[in-house]
Amino acid sequence: QWTTSSIVDEQVALIRAQVGDGKAICGLSGGVDSAVAAALVNRAIGDRLTCVFVDHGLLRAGERGQVERDYVAATGVRLVTVDARERFLTALAGVTDPEEKRKIIGREFIRVFEQAASDLQTEAGQSGEHYDFLVQGTLYPDVVESGGGTGAANIKSHHNVGGLPEDLQFKLVEPLRALFKDEVRRVGLELGLPEVIVHRQPFPGPGLGIRIIGEVTAARLDLLRAADAIAREELTAAGLDRTIWQCPVVLLADVRSVGVQGDGRTYGHPVVLRPVSSEDAMTADWTRLPYDVLERISTRITNEVNDVNRVVLDVTSKPPGTIEWE
Ligand code: XMP
Repeated sequence: QWTTSSIVDEQVALIRAQVGDGKAICGLSGGVDSAVAAALVNRAIGDRLTCVFVDHGLLRAGERGQVERDYVAATGVRLVTVDARERFLTALAGVTDPEEKRKIIGREFIRVFEQAASDLQTEAGQSGEHYDFLVQGTLYPDVVESGGGTGAANIKSHHNVGGLPEDLQFKLVEPLRALFKDEVRRVGLELGLPEVIVHRQPFPGPGLGIRIIGEVTAARLDLLRAADAIAREELTAAGLDRTIWQCPVVLLADVRSVGVQGDGRTYGHPVVLRPVSSEDAMTADWTRLPYDVLERISTRITNEVNDVNRVVLDVTSKPPGTIEWE
């Protein structure tokens, strides 16, 4: 009989056995998975864990502050923030293929961690200790969908599984590898993380980079960030956060359509709303959001976000569609 506390106890013991006297580094994405993985490792090895938050510029509005403020307040973990916005934009310049984007983002993530680890090491001076371990919040569905499970086809390279470079300099610690999302949330609560973190909706590690269909640029990220913030605000105001699994907002950056606003013709981009309901993200249904909520989101986005003149609704289940568009 598996209880949540027995999962915690077992994982803490396994982490201690794996890491020994070593030091670990953990990338926090702001999402529940890495937050819970880090909290587990923190419980196991205390301040021999340092968390690194990479601002890759593909974040949603307010996310960096939330990690720096809320998560640190809740856990007391040691956190270093790295501003890598330029680096990711440069690496993604000209790239439109979804898998290529994912692989680039995964690779850059690891390179930034390696740099952060080596900076920490330098800081630690001559103590002779090394950050040998990398903690990741990889879940069971990530493993399966990246082809690492029992013979499943490779559907997408989740950045934390299929996107890892061959010459990875860390040993991986992945305490959530056998768990589904709902189990991870229970583990998070068991570890004393606040509801606001534990019940955050999932957000992919590659962030807004895989929600811009086409090349990722700073200007497009700004558009999408603004549209996404409005959609989230309205969904929260309508009390729907716990009803839906998540609602990606996707920018069709290479598509333009004609619109009219005031007396003028516009020639802007569409954004797609992708509200989904799911138990574990392996399958999903599109959520029948109330029309008045859809209307408010649509009106606000087209009024407030320059260059977006159309809001469309994705009514595809998974399968055949995946939740994210890339
Ligand atoms: P898909 O698009 O495969 O997404 O139906 C299933 C769930 O996983 C999230 N997702 C990711 N999470 N790294 C992550 O940590 C990733 O690379 C990634 N890709 C998708 C997605 O938001 C959904 O909840």
